[in-house]
Amino acid sequence: MYRAHFGMQELPFTITPDTSFFFAHSSHQEALNTLLVAARNGEGFIKVIGEVGTGKTLLCRKFLDALDHREFVTAYIPNPYLEPMTLMLAVADELGIKYEPDINQHQLLRLLTRYLVDNYADRKRVILCLDEAQAMPIPTLESLRLLTNLETERRKLMQVVLFGQPELDQRLDQPSIRQLKQRISFSCHLVPLNLEEVEFYVSHRLVVAGYRGARLFPHKTVKQLYKASRGIPRLVNILAHKAMLAAFGEGARAINENHLRLAIADTESARGKPSVKKRILRYLSALVSGAAAFGILPIAASVFSGQLISTIMRDWSNWV
Ligand SMILES: Nc1ncnc2c1ncn2[C@@H]1O[C@H](COP(=O)(O)OP(=O)(O)O)[C@@H](O)[C@H]1O
Ligand SMILES: [Mg+2]
Repeated sequence: MYRAHFGMQELPFTITPDTSFFFAHSSHQEALNTLLVAARNGEGFIKVIGEVGTGKTLLCRKFLDALDHREFVTAYIPNPYLEPMTLMLAVADELGIKYEPDINQHQLLRLLTRYLVDNYADRKRVILCLDEAQAMPIPTLESLRLLTNLETERRKLMQVVLFGQPELDQRLDQPSIRQLKQRISFSCHLVPLNLEEVEFYVSHRLVVAGYRGARLFPHKTVKQLYKASRGIPRLVNILAHKAMLAAFGEGARAINENHLRLAIADTESARGKPSVKKRILRYLSALVSGAAAFGILPIAASVFSGQLISTIMRDWSNWV
């Protein structure tokens, strides 16, 4: 690939959430601070909302890395689209709790409770992180609340952090789980990067990947990146990677606007809505092909060529 061409040790714009590339822009840094403070305070539920690709999974990993493991015990469930009992089993697995294969819900809850009480006695805090929480069924969300009901007079025995897309908020608005909503003591919102942040973000990732050369993405290309990605880091990565491939293909040392245009044209989610003019043209061409398919076009064409008129005239003269 282009690593050697640009003199890098790693690919700078992969889409895996790798914490070594973490860029502390304002929204992420604020959310990370909130999570760390909330973890220390022992609050019940914490919620992190962000659109697809804004960095929720990366933030979650960064948060888990930042916790001191002498003080915190953590469990991470990447996909909690599970039945209540299956979620509890997944939590037990993550925490390393041993149980019989035919365990029932009541026994499992007792085991979990004992585990939490033991950790409390050891002065350890237990934190459960659930990614993609917008996909959780309502009964599973409700079972989480029951799990965190366990508390001492001083604090909860377990804290839960929900990471989810904005649909999670709609889910939490449902009357059946309003008790859970009331228990959310901290919430953060991840927002896309602004133009200046995209500029820093790009150069930060390049430096982490080992790039030490002259400016690779001139300001105009950063503007294109920002516009097409709407500041969403995952899209910035996809576009920057493709633009670098295009530059590499040409043997170019820096990215130009054409490389970015090619990257955007190749990326469906970055193309955005077509302009009104383009939409009208598309509509007309669809109309023409539809008309052709239904045989209207040959008729219309023959009208214009005068054939139909002469046919009608001939028929008319035959008739009179
Ligand atoms: N603050 C950031 N610093 C560095 N890379 C980021 C940042 N935010 C997002 N990314 C990158 O963007 C991509 C998408 O992030 P991810 O955490 O998977 O988003 P989400 O979980 O919200 O869909 C990943 O490659 C991730 O490394
Ligand atoms: Mg994610």
